[in-house]
Amino acid sequence: MAVSSFELSLPCRGTTVEVEFATTAPANPTAVLIPVTQSEGALEVPVTTLAGDGLLKALDAVGATGKKGEVTRVFHNDTLTIAFGLGDSGDIDEDTVRRAAGVVARGLRGVDKATITGEFGIRPIVEGLLLGGYSYTGMKSSQEDDSKDTTRITVIGKDNDADREAFKRAAVVAGATVLARDLVNTPSNFLYPESYAKVITEIAAQSKLNVEVFDEKQLKEQGFGGILSVGQGSNRPPRLVHLSWHPAEATTSLGLVGKGITFDTGGISLKPAANMENMISDMGGSAAVVAAISAAAQLELPLGIDAWVPLAENMPSGTATRPGDVITHYGGITSEILNTDAEGRLVLADALARASEDKPDYLIETSTLTGAQIVALGNRVMAVMGSDEFRDRVAATGRAVGEPGWAMPLLEEQEEELKSPVADIRNTNNARTAGMLFAGLYLSRFIAEDTQWVHLDIAGPSFNTSSPWGFTPKRASGTPVRTIVETMTQLAGT
Ligand code: BES
Ligand code: MN
Ligand code: ZN
Repeated sequence: MAVSSFELSLPCRGTTVEVEFATTAPANPTAVLIPVTQSEGALEVPVTTLAGDGLLKALDAVGATGKKGEVTRVFHNDTLTIAFGLGDSGDIDEDTVRRAAGVVARGLRGVDKATITGEFGIRPIVEGLLLGGYSYTGMKSSQEDDSKDTTRITVIGKDNDADREAFKRAAVVAGATVLARDLVNTPSNFLYPESYAKVITEIAAQSKLNVEVFDEKQLKEQGFGGILSVGQGSNRPPRLVHLSWHPAEATTSLGLVGKGITFDTGGISLKPAANMENMISDMGGSAAVVAAISAAAQLELPLGIDAWVPLAENMPSGTATRPGDVITHYGGITSEILNTDAEGRLVLADALARASEDKPDYLIETSTLTGAQIVALGNRVMAVMGSDEFRDRVAATGRAVGEPGWAMPLLEEQEEELKSPVADIRNTNNARTAGMLFAGLYLSRFIAEDTQWVHLDIAGPSFNTSSPWGFTPKRASGTPVRTIVETMTQLAGT
Protein backbone atom coordinates (compact mmCIF):
# COMPACT_ATOMS: atom_id res chain seq x y z
CA MET A 1 0.00 0.00 0.00
CA ALA A 2 1.27 3.49 -0.85
CA VAL A 3 2.26 5.65 2.11
CA SER A 4 -0.25 8.27 0.99
CA SER A 5 -3.15 5.82 1.09
CA PHE A 6 -2.80 4.80 4.74
CA GLU A 7 -6.06 4.81 6.74
CA LEU A 8 -5.72 7.79 9.05
CA SER A 9 -8.03 9.65 11.43
CA LEU A 10 -7.68 12.96 9.58
CA PRO A 11 -10.82 14.95 8.64
CA CYS A 12 -9.74 15.22 4.99
CA ARG A 13 -6.92 14.33 2.66
CA GLY A 14 -5.56 15.90 -0.47
CA THR A 15 -6.08 14.22 -3.82
CA THR A 16 -3.68 13.54 -6.66
CA VAL A 17 -3.44 11.64 -9.93
CA GLU A 18 -2.99 7.86 -10.09
CA VAL A 19 0.04 6.48 -11.90
CA GLU A 20 0.79 3.01 -13.28
CA PHE A 21 3.75 1.50 -15.07
CA ALA A 22 3.49 -0.19 -18.49
CA THR A 23 5.92 -1.15 -21.22
CA THR A 24 3.50 -0.55 -24.09
CA ALA A 25 0.95 2.21 -24.62
CA PRO A 26 -2.62 1.29 -23.66
CA ALA A 27 -5.35 1.76 -26.29
CA ASN A 28 -7.78 4.69 -26.27
CA PRO A 29 -6.28 7.17 -23.82
CA THR A 30 -8.24 10.39 -23.23
CA ALA A 31 -5.00 12.31 -23.65
CA VAL A 32 -1.35 11.79 -24.50
CA LEU A 33 1.26 13.91 -22.73
CA ILE A 34 4.20 14.73 -25.01
CA PRO A 35 7.51 16.30 -23.96
CA VAL A 36 8.68 19.04 -26.32
CA THR A 37 11.98 20.94 -26.39
CA GLN A 38 13.59 23.75 -28.31
CA SER A 39 16.83 24.15 -30.22
CA GLU A 40 18.01 27.62 -31.25
CA GLY A 41 14.52 28.88 -30.51
CA ALA A 42 12.79 26.32 -32.74
CA LEU A 43 10.24 23.83 -31.38
CA GLU A 44 11.25 20.15 -31.39
CA VAL A 45 9.36 16.95 -30.66
CA PRO A 46 12.30 14.91 -29.36
CA VAL A 47 10.61 11.52 -28.89
CA THR A 48 8.39 9.62 -31.26
CA THR A 49 6.61 7.54 -28.57
CA LEU A 50 2.91 8.49 -28.58
CA ALA A 51 3.47 11.50 -30.85
CA GLY A 52 1.37 11.14 -33.99
CA ASP A 53 2.74 12.07 -37.44
CA GLY A 54 2.71 15.78 -38.11
CA LEU A 55 2.53 16.77 -34.45
CA LEU A 56 5.40 19.24 -34.76
CA LYS A 57 3.48 21.17 -37.46
CA ALA A 58 0.27 21.12 -35.45
CA LEU A 59 1.99 22.45 -32.33
CA ASP A 60 3.97 25.02 -34.29
CA ALA A 61 0.76 26.28 -35.87
CA VAL A 62 -0.74 27.12 -32.45
CA GLY A 63 2.41 28.88 -31.27
CA ALA A 64 4.08 26.27 -29.05
CA THR A 65 7.76 27.06 -28.47
CA GLY A 66 8.91 24.20 -26.21
CA LYS A 67 10.07 26.54 -23.48
CA LYS A 68 10.18 25.37 -19.87
CA GLY A 69 6.81 25.10 -18.15
CA GLU A 70 4.78 25.75 -21.32
CA VAL A 71 1.72 23.53 -21.79
CA THR A 72 -0.02 23.40 -25.20
CA ARG A 73 -3.18 21.46 -25.98
CA VAL A 74 -4.03 20.38 -29.52
CA PHE A 75 -6.48 17.85 -30.86
CA HIS A 76 -4.30 15.85 -33.21
CA ASN A 77 -4.92 12.57 -35.08
CA ASP A 78 -8.13 12.06 -33.09
CA THR A 79 -6.36 12.40 -29.73
CA LEU A 80 -6.14 15.18 -27.18
CA THR A 81 -2.41 15.90 -27.19
CA ILE A 82 -0.92 17.90 -24.34
CA ALA A 83 2.63 19.07 -25.05
CA PHE A 84 4.79 20.13 -22.12
CA GLY A 85 7.95 22.17 -22.60
CA LEU A 86 11.37 21.17 -21.25
CA GLY A 87 13.30 24.12 -22.71
CA ASP A 88 16.64 23.92 -24.49
CA SER A 89 17.29 20.33 -25.60
CA GLY A 90 20.96 20.63 -24.62
CA ASP A 91 20.18 21.62 -21.04
CA ILE A 92 17.59 19.30 -19.53
CA ASP A 93 18.17 18.20 -15.93
CA GLU A 94 16.01 16.04 -13.69
CA ASP A 95 14.41 18.98 -11.95
CA THR A 96 13.31 20.55 -15.24
CA VAL A 97 11.50 17.32 -16.10
CA ARG A 98 9.98 17.03 -12.61
CA ARG A 99 8.67 20.59 -12.69
CA ALA A 100 7.28 20.26 -16.23
CA ALA A 101 5.50 17.02 -15.29
CA GLY A 102 4.14 18.84 -12.24
CA VAL A 103 2.72 21.66 -14.36
CA VAL A 104 1.13 19.24 -16.81
CA ALA A 105 -0.45 17.18 -13.98
CA ARG A 106 -2.05 20.29 -12.48
CA GLY A 107 -3.92 20.89 -15.75
CA LEU A 108 -5.46 17.42 -16.14
CA ARG A 109 -8.81 18.08 -14.51
CA GLY A 110 -11.50 16.24 -16.45
CA VAL A 111 -9.03 13.92 -18.22
CA ASP A 112 -9.86 10.31 -17.40
CA LYS A 113 -6.93 8.33 -18.85
CA ALA A 114 -3.60 9.78 -19.94
CA THR A 115 -0.36 8.29 -21.24
CA ILE A 116 3.17 9.67 -20.92
CA THR A 117 6.63 8.46 -21.87
CA GLY A 118 9.26 7.85 -19.22
CA GLU A 119 12.10 8.52 -21.67
CA PHE A 120 13.21 11.69 -19.88
CA GLY A 121 13.50 9.77 -16.63
CA ILE A 122 10.96 7.57 -14.85
CA ARG A 123 11.70 9.13 -11.48
CA PRO A 124 11.20 12.84 -12.30
CA ILE A 125 8.14 12.05 -14.41
CA VAL A 126 6.44 9.98 -11.70
CA GLU A 127 7.38 12.36 -8.87
CA GLY A 128 6.38 15.42 -10.90
CA LEU A 129 2.98 13.95 -11.81
CA LEU A 130 2.10 12.79 -8.29
CA LEU A 131 3.33 15.98 -6.61
CA GLY A 132 2.02 18.46 -9.19
CA GLY A 133 -1.37 16.73 -9.39
CA TYR A 134 -1.94 17.21 -5.66
CA SER A 135 -4.61 19.53 -4.36
CA TYR A 136 -6.15 20.03 -0.94
CA THR A 137 -9.69 21.37 -0.77
CA GLY A 138 -10.23 20.53 2.90
CA MET A 139 -13.81 20.83 4.02
CA LYS A 140 -15.38 22.72 1.16
CA SER A 141 -18.98 21.51 1.32
CA SER A 142 -19.69 21.97 -2.39
CA GLN A 143 -17.22 20.21 -4.62
CA GLU A 144 -17.97 22.22 -7.76
CA ASP A 145 -14.86 21.08 -9.56
CA ASP A 146 -14.47 17.55 -10.84
CA SER A 147 -11.31 16.93 -8.84
CA LYS A 148 -12.94 13.83 -7.36
CA ASP A 149 -12.65 12.06 -10.71
CA THR A 150 -9.08 10.88 -10.48
CA THR A 151 -6.96 11.01 -13.61
CA ARG A 152 -5.12 7.76 -14.26
CA ILE A 153 -1.78 8.15 -16.00
CA THR A 154 0.17 5.31 -17.59
CA VAL A 155 3.91 5.88 -17.61
CA ILE A 156 5.63 3.98 -20.42
CA GLY A 157 8.99 2.55 -19.43
CA LYS A 158 11.45 -0.04 -20.66
CA ASP A 159 10.81 -3.69 -19.98
CA ASN A 160 13.60 -4.01 -17.40
CA ASP A 161 14.14 -4.08 -13.63
CA ALA A 162 15.77 -0.65 -13.50
CA ASP A 163 12.69 1.14 -14.85
CA ARG A 164 10.28 -0.93 -12.72
CA GLU A 165 12.38 -0.27 -9.60
CA ALA A 166 12.64 3.46 -10.38
CA PHE A 167 8.87 3.63 -10.76
CA LYS A 168 8.21 1.88 -7.45
CA ARG A 169 10.69 4.03 -5.58
CA ALA A 170 9.40 7.28 -7.05
CA ALA A 171 5.84 6.33 -6.09
CA VAL A 172 6.87 5.59 -2.49
CA VAL A 173 8.86 8.83 -2.16
CA ALA A 174 6.10 10.96 -3.72
CA GLY A 175 3.54 9.14 -1.54
CA ALA A 176 5.54 10.08 1.56
CA THR A 177 5.67 13.71 0.39
CA VAL A 178 1.90 13.69 -0.09
CA LEU A 179 1.46 12.26 3.40
CA ALA A 180 3.53 15.09 4.90
CA ARG A 181 1.45 17.61 2.92
CA ASP A 182 -1.79 16.12 4.24
CA LEU A 183 -0.55 16.39 7.84
CA VAL A 184 0.60 20.00 7.38
CA ASN A 185 -2.59 21.05 5.58
CA THR A 186 -4.83 19.75 8.38
CA PRO A 187 -6.19 22.67 10.46
CA SER A 188 -5.03 22.87 14.06
CA ASN A 189 -8.49 22.32 15.54
CA PHE A 190 -8.15 18.77 14.16
CA LEU A 191 -4.40 18.34 14.49
CA TYR A 192 -3.19 19.00 18.06
CA PRO A 193 -0.60 17.09 20.08
CA GLU A 194 -2.85 14.25 21.24
CA SER A 195 -4.67 13.74 17.92
CA TYR A 196 -1.43 14.12 15.96
CA ALA A 197 0.27 11.50 18.15
CA LYS A 198 -2.65 9.19 17.36
CA VAL A 199 -2.27 9.74 13.61
CA ILE A 200 1.48 9.08 13.86
CA THR A 201 0.69 5.84 15.71
CA GLU A 202 -1.61 4.85 12.84
CA ILE A 203 1.15 5.61 10.32
CA ALA A 204 3.60 3.54 12.37
CA ALA A 205 1.25 0.56 12.49
CA GLN A 206 0.77 0.62 8.72
CA SER A 207 4.49 0.98 7.96
CA LYS A 208 5.71 -1.61 10.50
CA LEU A 209 7.55 0.93 12.61
CA ASN A 210 7.87 0.79 16.38
CA VAL A 211 6.19 3.67 18.15
CA GLU A 212 6.27 5.09 21.65
CA VAL A 213 4.18 8.10 22.80
CA PHE A 214 5.17 10.05 25.92
CA ASP A 215 2.24 11.93 27.50
CA GLU A 216 2.58 14.99 29.74
CA LYS A 217 2.95 12.85 32.86
CA GLN A 218 5.86 10.88 31.38
CA LEU A 219 7.41 14.07 30.00
CA LYS A 220 7.39 15.47 33.52
CA GLU A 221 8.83 12.32 35.10
CA GLN A 222 11.67 12.25 32.58
CA GLY A 223 12.48 15.96 32.67
CA PHE A 224 11.44 17.20 29.22
CA GLY A 225 11.26 20.80 30.47
CA GLY A 226 11.38 22.47 27.03
CA ILE A 227 8.40 20.57 25.62
CA LEU A 228 6.40 21.07 28.83
CA SER A 229 7.19 24.78 28.96
CA VAL A 230 6.01 25.44 25.41
CA GLY A 231 2.90 23.28 25.87
CA GLN A 232 1.81 24.56 29.28
CA GLY A 233 -0.22 27.52 27.99
CA SER A 234 -2.55 25.28 26.00
CA ASN A 235 -5.53 23.19 27.10
CA ARG A 236 -4.20 20.55 24.74
CA PRO A 237 -1.18 18.99 26.52
CA PRO A 238 2.08 18.22 24.70
CA ARG A 239 3.45 14.87 23.56
CA LEU A 240 6.75 13.39 22.43
CA VAL A 241 6.62 10.61 19.83
CA HIS A 242 9.45 8.16 19.15
CA LEU A 243 9.39 6.09 15.95
CA SER A 244 12.03 3.52 15.16
CA TRP A 245 13.17 1.29 12.31
CA HIS A 246 15.95 -1.17 13.11
CA PRO A 247 16.49 -3.76 10.38
CA ALA A 248 18.96 -6.53 11.23
CA GLU A 249 21.32 -5.62 8.33
CA ALA A 250 21.82 -2.01 9.49
CA THR A 251 25.40 -0.95 10.17
CA THR A 252 24.86 2.84 10.24
CA SER A 253 22.55 4.74 12.60
CA LEU A 254 20.57 7.91 11.98
CA GLY A 255 18.61 10.13 14.35
CA LEU A 256 15.74 12.26 13.00
CA VAL A 257 14.15 15.18 14.85
CA GLY A 258 11.31 17.39 13.59
CA LYS A 259 9.57 20.43 15.07
CA GLY A 260 5.92 19.69 15.82
CA ILE A 261 4.30 22.93 16.96
CA THR A 262 0.70 22.21 15.98
CA PHE A 263 -0.07 25.93 16.18
CA ASP A 264 2.23 28.83 17.00
CA THR A 265 0.52 31.95 18.33
CA GLY A 266 3.84 33.11 19.77
CA GLY A 267 2.53 32.59 23.30
CA ILE A 268 2.79 35.59 25.66
CA SER A 269 5.13 37.16 23.08
CA LEU A 270 2.04 37.08 20.86
CA LYS A 271 2.37 37.26 17.07
CA PRO A 272 0.51 39.92 15.06
CA ALA A 273 -2.84 38.76 13.62
CA ALA A 274 -1.86 39.12 9.93
CA ASN A 275 -1.07 35.72 8.40
CA MET A 276 -1.12 33.94 11.75
CA GLU A 277 -3.29 31.24 10.13
CA ASN A 278 -0.17 30.03 8.32
CA MET A 279 1.14 28.86 11.69
CA ILE A 280 -0.89 25.65 11.25
CA SER A 281 2.22 24.67 9.27
CA ASP A 282 4.59 24.99 12.24
CA MET A 283 4.67 21.20 12.50
CA GLY A 284 6.08 20.78 8.98
CA GLY A 285 9.42 19.48 10.24
CA SER A 286 7.76 16.73 12.26
CA ALA A 287 5.52 15.77 9.33
CA ALA A 288 8.55 15.42 7.06
CA VAL A 289 10.39 13.28 9.60
CA VAL A 290 7.39 10.98 10.15
CA ALA A 291 6.80 10.62 6.40
CA ALA A 292 10.50 10.01 5.73
CA ILE A 293 10.93 7.22 8.28
CA SER A 294 7.72 5.68 6.99
CA ALA A 295 9.23 5.70 3.47
CA ALA A 296 12.46 4.16 4.82
CA ALA A 297 10.43 1.25 6.18
CA GLN A 298 8.53 0.85 2.90
CA LEU A 299 11.79 0.84 0.98
CA GLU A 300 13.29 -1.48 3.60
CA LEU A 301 16.42 0.65 3.82
CA PRO A 302 19.23 -1.12 5.72
CA LEU A 303 19.75 1.77 8.12
CA GLY A 304 18.95 2.05 11.83
CA ILE A 305 16.65 5.05 12.36
CA ASP A 306 15.20 6.68 15.47
CA ALA A 307 12.84 9.62 14.96
CA TRP A 308 11.86 11.95 17.78
CA VAL A 309 9.01 14.42 17.29
CA PRO A 310 8.08 16.87 20.06
CA LEU A 311 4.44 18.03 19.73
CA ALA A 312 3.08 21.12 21.47
CA GLU A 313 0.65 23.98 20.91
CA ASN A 314 2.14 27.42 21.71
CA MET A 315 -0.67 29.45 23.32
CA PRO A 316 -0.93 32.50 25.57
CA SER A 317 -2.91 31.95 28.79
CA GLY A 318 -2.74 32.18 32.55
CA THR A 319 -0.63 29.04 32.63
CA ALA A 320 1.67 30.01 29.76
CA THR A 321 5.43 30.45 30.08
CA ARG A 322 6.49 34.07 30.63
CA PRO A 323 9.46 35.97 29.20
CA GLY A 324 12.13 35.74 31.90
CA ASP A 325 11.22 32.21 32.97
CA VAL A 326 14.09 29.73 33.30
CA ILE A 327 13.55 26.11 32.28
CA THR A 328 15.57 22.89 32.45
CA HIS A 329 15.84 20.84 29.27
CA TYR A 330 16.05 17.06 29.05
CA GLY A 331 19.63 16.25 30.04
CA GLY A 332 20.02 19.25 32.36
CA ILE A 333 20.94 22.33 30.26
CA THR A 334 19.02 25.41 31.48
CA SER A 335 17.53 28.14 29.23
CA GLU A 336 16.36 31.62 29.99
CA ILE A 337 13.33 32.43 27.85
CA LEU A 338 13.46 35.97 26.53
CA ASN A 339 10.82 35.51 23.86
CA THR A 340 8.12 32.83 24.05
CA ASP A 341 7.79 32.99 20.25
CA ALA A 342 11.23 31.37 19.95
CA GLU A 343 9.54 28.13 21.06
CA GLY A 344 10.69 25.72 18.37
CA ARG A 345 14.26 25.57 19.65
CA LEU A 346 12.94 24.85 23.17
CA VAL A 347 11.05 21.70 22.17
CA LEU A 348 13.81 20.70 19.74
CA ALA A 349 16.47 21.03 22.46
CA ASP A 350 14.77 18.29 24.50
CA ALA A 351 14.28 16.05 21.48
CA LEU A 352 17.85 16.57 20.24
CA ALA A 353 19.23 15.81 23.71
CA ARG A 354 17.19 12.60 23.82
CA ALA A 355 18.17 11.59 20.28
CA SER A 356 21.84 12.31 21.07
CA GLU A 357 21.75 9.96 24.06
CA ASP A 358 21.76 7.05 21.59
CA LYS A 359 24.88 8.48 19.89
CA PRO A 360 23.71 8.10 16.29
CA ASP A 361 26.35 8.31 13.52
CA TYR A 362 24.24 10.95 11.76
CA LEU A 363 21.44 13.24 12.84
CA ILE A 364 19.02 15.24 10.69
CA GLU A 365 16.82 17.83 12.36
CA THR A 366 14.30 19.97 10.46
CA SER A 367 12.03 22.78 11.53
CA THR A 368 10.04 25.85 10.49
CA LEU A 369 12.36 27.63 12.87
CA THR A 370 12.85 31.28 11.94
CA GLY A 371 11.32 34.10 9.94
CA ALA A 372 14.94 35.08 9.39
CA GLN A 373 15.33 32.07 7.08
CA ILE A 374 12.74 33.62 4.75
CA VAL A 375 14.51 36.98 4.88
CA ALA A 376 17.84 35.34 4.01
CA LEU A 377 16.85 32.75 1.38
CA GLY A 378 13.22 33.32 0.44
CA ASN A 379 10.40 30.84 0.03
CA ARG A 380 12.03 28.23 -2.17
CA VAL A 381 15.46 27.56 -0.65
CA MET A 382 15.97 25.90 2.71
CA ALA A 383 18.90 26.79 4.97
CA VAL A 384 21.30 24.01 5.92
CA MET A 385 23.54 24.30 9.01
CA GLY A 386 25.57 21.72 10.91
CA SER A 387 28.79 19.68 10.58
CA ASP A 388 30.74 21.05 7.60
CA GLU A 389 30.93 17.97 5.42
CA PHE A 390 27.49 16.51 6.08
CA ARG A 391 25.92 19.99 5.75
CA ASP A 392 27.37 20.50 2.26
CA ARG A 393 26.36 17.01 1.21
CA VAL A 394 22.73 17.39 2.37
CA ALA A 395 22.43 20.85 0.77
CA ALA A 396 23.65 19.40 -2.55
CA THR A 397 21.32 16.41 -2.21
CA GLY A 398 18.41 18.80 -1.69
CA ARG A 399 19.32 20.65 -4.87
CA ALA A 400 19.54 17.37 -6.79
CA VAL A 401 16.05 16.23 -5.76
CA GLY A 402 14.38 19.58 -6.36
CA GLU A 403 14.27 20.80 -2.74
CA PRO A 404 17.10 23.30 -3.03
CA GLY A 405 19.22 23.81 0.06
CA TRP A 406 22.02 26.28 0.74
CA ALA A 407 24.75 25.94 3.34
CA MET A 408 24.80 28.53 6.13
CA PRO A 409 27.45 28.99 8.84
CA LEU A 410 27.36 28.59 12.59
CA LEU A 411 29.18 31.67 13.93
CA GLU A 412 31.74 31.50 16.67
CA GLU A 413 31.12 35.17 17.51
CA GLN A 414 27.50 34.38 18.38
CA GLU A 415 28.62 32.12 21.27
CA GLU A 416 28.76 35.29 23.34
CA GLU A 417 25.14 36.12 22.44
CA LEU A 418 24.03 32.73 23.78
CA LYS A 419 25.07 33.64 27.31
CA SER A 420 22.46 34.37 29.97
CA PRO A 421 23.04 35.90 33.41
CA VAL A 422 20.70 33.37 35.05
CA ALA A 423 20.88 30.19 32.94
CA ASP A 424 23.32 28.22 30.76
CA ILE A 425 21.95 29.81 27.58
CA ARG A 426 19.10 32.08 26.45
CA ASN A 427 16.61 31.45 23.66
CA THR A 428 17.11 34.62 21.59
CA ASN A 429 20.03 36.94 20.91
CA ASN A 430 17.93 40.04 21.46
CA ALA A 431 19.31 41.48 18.24
CA ARG A 432 18.21 41.81 14.66
CA THR A 433 21.32 40.20 13.23
CA ALA A 434 21.52 36.63 11.95
CA GLY A 435 18.53 35.23 13.86
CA MET A 436 18.58 32.06 11.77
CA LEU A 437 22.21 31.35 12.59
CA PHE A 438 21.65 32.07 16.28
CA ALA A 439 18.85 29.49 16.32
CA GLY A 440 21.17 26.95 14.66
CA LEU A 441 23.88 27.66 17.22
CA TYR A 442 21.36 27.23 20.05
CA LEU A 443 20.43 23.78 18.70
CA SER A 444 24.09 22.77 18.31
CA ARG A 445 24.43 22.79 22.12
CA PHE A 446 22.21 19.71 22.37
CA ILE A 447 24.04 17.45 19.93
CA ALA A 448 26.52 14.72 20.88
CA GLU A 449 30.22 15.35 20.11
CA ASP A 450 30.85 12.75 17.42
CA THR A 451 27.57 12.99 15.56
CA GLN A 452 27.53 14.33 11.99
CA TRP A 453 24.44 16.52 11.99
CA VAL A 454 22.36 19.01 10.00
CA HIS A 455 19.67 21.50 10.86
CA LEU A 456 17.31 22.29 7.96
CA ASP A 457 15.39 25.55 8.47
CA ILE A 458 12.34 25.18 6.22
CA ALA A 459 10.23 28.16 7.40
CA GLY A 460 9.78 29.42 3.81
CA PRO A 461 9.93 26.38 1.50
CA SER A 462 7.64 24.07 3.52
CA PHE A 463 4.47 26.13 3.02
CA ASN A 464 3.58 27.90 -0.22
CA THR A 465 1.46 30.94 0.53
CA SER A 466 1.45 32.14 -3.10
CA SER A 467 0.46 30.51 -6.40
CA PRO A 468 1.32 26.95 -7.42
CA TRP A 469 4.51 26.53 -9.48
CA GLY A 470 6.25 23.47 -10.96
CA PHE A 471 5.23 20.49 -8.82
CA THR A 472 4.57 22.69 -5.76
CA PRO A 473 0.88 23.31 -4.99
CA LYS A 474 -0.56 25.97 -2.74
CA ARG A 475 -0.04 25.40 1.02
CA ALA A 476 2.08 22.46 2.17
CA SER A 477 4.94 21.46 -0.14
CA GLY A 478 6.20 18.38 1.70
CA THR A 479 9.74 19.82 1.86
CA PRO A 480 12.16 18.29 2.96
CA VAL A 481 10.81 14.70 2.78
CA ARG A 482 12.64 13.88 -0.44
CA THR A 483 15.95 15.33 0.74
CA ILE A 484 15.76 13.18 3.88
CA VAL A 485 14.80 10.02 1.99
CA GLU A 486 17.58 10.53 -0.56
CA THR A 487 20.12 11.16 2.23
CA MET A 488 18.94 8.04 4.07
CA THR A 489 19.33 6.06 0.85
CA GLN A 490 22.93 7.30 0.53
CA LEU A 491 23.70 6.47 4.17
CA ALA A 492 22.22 3.01 3.74
CA GLY A 493 24.47 2.50 0.72
CA THR A 494 21.59 1.26 -1.43
N1 BES B 1 7.41 29.33 13.68
C1 BES B 1 8.13 30.54 13.75
C2 BES B 1 9.00 30.79 12.52
C3 BES B 1 8.27 31.02 11.23
C4 BES B 1 7.96 32.31 10.82
C5 BES B 1 7.93 29.96 10.41
C6 BES B 1 7.29 32.52 9.62
C7 BES B 1 7.25 30.16 9.21
C8 BES B 1 6.94 31.44 8.82
C9 BES B 1 9.05 30.55 14.98
O1 BES B 1 8.56 29.86 16.07
C10 BES B 1 9.22 31.97 15.41
O2 BES B 1 8.26 32.55 15.78
N2 BES B 1 10.46 32.46 15.35
C11 BES B 1 10.74 33.80 15.74
C12 BES B 1 12.00 33.77 16.57
C13 BES B 1 12.31 35.10 17.21
C14 BES B 1 11.30 35.43 18.27
C15 BES B 1 13.70 35.04 17.79
C16 BES B 1 10.91 34.62 14.47
O3 BES B 1 11.51 34.12 13.51
O4 BES B 1 10.42 35.74 14.44
MN1 MN C 1 7.31 31.04 17.28
ZN1 ZN D 1 7.24 28.32 15.68
